[in-house]
Amino acid sequence: MTETPPTTTLTDGAVAADGQLPEASEVWSHPVDAWTQAQDVLNPLRSSEADRVIAPAAMVIFGVSGDLTSRKLMPALYDLAVGLPLPEGFSIVGVSHRDWSDDDFRQQMREAVTENARTPVTEDAWQGFAQGLSYVRGDFAQPDSYTRLGERLRAIDSERGTKGNRIFYLATAPNFFLPIIHGLDAASVSERQANYLEPSQGWQRIVVEKPFGHDLASARDLIQEMADAFSERQIYRIDHYLGKETVQNILAFRFANILFEPIWNRNYVDNVQITAAESIGVEGRAGYYDAAGALRDMVQSHLLQLLTVVSMEPPARFSGNAVRDEKVKVLRSVVPPSAEDEVMRWVVPGQYGPGYVGGKAVPGYREEKGVAPDSKTETYVALRLRVENWRWNGVPFFLRTGKRLPRRVTEVAISLKKVPHMIFGGAEVEPSPDVISMRIQPDEGIAVRFNAKVPGAGTQIRPVRMEFSYGSAFGEAGPDAYERLLLDVIRGDPTLFTRRDEVEAAWSIVQPILDVWAAPNAPAPYLYPAGSWGPDQADAMISLTDRAWRRP
Ligand code: BG6
Repeated sequence: MTETPPTTTLTDGAVAADGQLPEASEVWSHPVDAWTQAQDVLNPLRSSEADRVIAPAAMVIFGVSGDLTSRKLMPALYDLAVGLPLPEGFSIVGVSHRDWSDDDFRQQMREAVTENARTPVTEDAWQGFAQGLSYVRGDFAQPDSYTRLGERLRAIDSERGTKGNRIFYLATAPNFFLPIIHGLDAASVSERQANYLEPSQGWQRIVVEKPFGHDLASARDLIQEMADAFSERQIYRIDHYLGKETVQNILAFRFANILFEPIWNRNYVDNVQITAAESIGVEGRAGYYDAAGALRDMVQSHLLQLLTVVSMEPPARFSGNAVRDEKVKVLRSVVPPSAEDEVMRWVVPGQYGPGYVGGKAVPGYREEKGVAPDSKTETYVALRLRVENWRWNGVPFFLRTGKRLPRRVTEVAISLKKVPHMIFGGAEVEPSPDVISMRIQPDEGIAVRFNAKVPGAGTQIRPVRMEFSYGSAFGEAGPDAYERLLLDVIRGDPTLFTRRDEVEAAWSIVQPILDVWAAPNAPAPYLYPAGSWGPDQADAMISLTDRAWRRP
């Protein structure tokens, strides 16, 4: 099935093909063509929200009774609708196994939006939004669910002017991805006369949540199965970290300033530390998490995305393929530990035991509901990666993430080398290295730590901080990551979504570690008390390089 290229009219009179991404096999020789230029014009960092007319569409959310829909998707869609970038006629069809009527569905969504949206729910705004909500009960494995869905979508086309434009959002557990893809695909074949996947006009896109596969082999299978039903340009693989304003700001910080890029390399950078600490535990998600663990859940996706935005080369332009080509290139330069002794030395798995977080006693991971009492799943991982290319050779990248750490903080810290010669003599003046730290959350912002002279006689030197804070500079909180990403799907901008070669490159980095950990004699993760910064072995690992973890 193919995506018909509709047109998007821009206020400056330009008419751009919408969402025409060349296949991955073409990308290396992809010239600056009309598609790429159109993506530039459509790119939200290059144009204002008000600058374009977005086509009305119907978004089908599979798994609408789940947590993701109530906590993230529906609140983000409501916030978007109230903020007005959504076109009139935009419609949402929920699909799940629950026996709900349209009204039950609207009521459930109202509660979710009231609790989780940024914008307060008012009667008028809700009524306007709710008109576009409808529900189809369905079993994802049953063909008749797709027949009913097709009928509903065609009715919405004629009532609300959605013109065959469809977005299918897979917000389900990963074991339903393939049944849904096959169901949609089969429906498009069996309903050739009145086809809702390939209607005579309009475009269709499919959005997939993580985890995209369980390992490299299953990710490749999923890529292939999806490619049989949808073309790559129709597929939007979400990594919500890329929707975070502060992650995008790393690119702005690097590539919209002349100040930092000259030192962003092996000549000046001593090491890079990427930390994603969470104070929460497994939070009722043991079913998924116990089979995943921190390496798959956080490193393969979010932490490697952070690594790419920090380490990639400048793309020629901020557009879908130019950015993703550079991300793939840097991921392919990453050399993970692969031999057993390297993995043992450079990758430290941990698991939280009982402890205290925020002054409250919390159970250990193995005592959590749904977790096996002898579970070997890691809830923490720290590792060193090498990026072997011209820019980064010799600079270690240290990544760590964990649950039940003392507090929630995500940051990227670039530690610079020492000055080549210290002119201020005396033991008391050994300066600390300069550090550029980019805080993703909370207290979003950027700080530069450098050395200054302490006022008074003598030449005592002390580190000081220069800070930029998002909150005080822009005076308002940015939109939630999902708002940004959903809007990008609706308008067909793939820049912030993961391309299939990028998914494979990321899995290739963690696969050798998974292989070593899967061996029968692999050690269990090291225990750390909940509320601590992880196992001591992580400190020992980094100290092998004469460095230490930052306390973010
Ligand atoms: C999700 C992981 O992708 O990201 C969760 O599955 C994790 O385990 C979450 O808690 C963290 O996201 P954020 O936006 O809170 O940093």
